[in-house]
Amino acid sequence: MATAVEPEMENELSASLEAPAGAWPRYAAAALGFRNYWYPVMFARSLRNKPRILTLCGEKLVLVRLAGGIQAGNARSYPVAERAGLIWVYVGDDPAPPVEDDIPDELLRPNTVVMGAVELRKGNWRHAIENCIDEGHAKYLHRTALSQLFKEMPVWTKGVSMAPSEDERWLCRVRGQTVAEDLYPRIGQWPRKRFWKRQLRGQPTELANRLPCLCRVGGPARGWTAYEYFVPVDENRHRALILAVLHTRGLGALAFRLKYWLNIYWLHYWFFNRSQDQRMVGLMNCPPERLYRPDRSITGWRKWAHETARRAPQSPAILSRRGSPRLASEANPCPAAG
Ligand SMILES: [Fe+2]
Repeated sequence: MATAVEPEMENELSASLEAPAGAWPRYAAAALGFRNYWYPVMFARSLRNKPRILTLCGEKLVLVRLAGGIQAGNARSYPVAERAGLIWVYVGDDPAPPVEDDIPDELLRPNTVVMGAVELRKGNWRHAIENCIDEGHAKYLHRTALSQLFKEMPVWTKGVSMAPSEDERWLCRVRGQTVAEDLYPRIGQWPRKRFWKRQLRGQPTELANRLPCLCRVGGPARGWTAYEYFVPVDENRHRALILAVLHTRGLGALAFRLKYWLNIYWLHYWFFNRSQDQRMVGLMNCPPERLYRPDRSITGWRKWAHETARRAPQSPAILSRRGSPRLASEANPCPAAG
């Protein structure tokens, strides 16, 4: 007689061949984010004469623009900087490293055009960044996205792994081979050919995560790069800065701004990131969780964050760590950015 089998929600080793949630205690403990990092909190143009109150990594603070610069604080004051059109606040113990340590080099180039939206969202920041780097979900969640109307979507991916860039600042999602269509029992060939869909060639997107809370989404087909920050607010909320970045000047910058408001804002931010990804992140309630093979992208990030997240600065040595880092774009397998 057959007996019902209770599904095991957290096998010791799941199909991802990685341990489930909780295996990396520093990451598991970082519900309010990792301390000792600079975090972007808003566009600089949003802070005018009126002070702004916000919560960052569980701490409520006031940001105010004064004649001598921007100040952030509550009972104590926090280091603040303005770079790449954004306001950055350091949360952690003294001494703070230079703010440039925590900003991708490509955002600091003088010809960088940064567009984007900032939004307070439901869900812990880890769910949001895990969703961003996740290999599996796009193939079903985004299949009906408006931006994919004329593009073929992959059905599955062979060989998913995570690898640090040569400068060890990024953790890149590496895919063996993207499969555009396949043969399935009872269904047959799927998906069906649609003449209006552009055929999938190579890897459609290139993703990499960077501490403390950044996911970069790029790829040669796109022509611009998304920098998506999921800044910890409290255990149940994060502040998303969904940035669209291009390196250009003059008329090129004007054209990119126009493209952002006519196309990227709607197709990428509103109907893709906000209506699909964020909707799912807001509904997440885990652990428990059941992992499957493509979740190696998530467990790889958890493990890397647990092992490499910055600890409290103990000596001035941390201040000189920057040296002359190479851009992630020079490294293989991390793809070019921007
Ligand atoms: Fe997504």
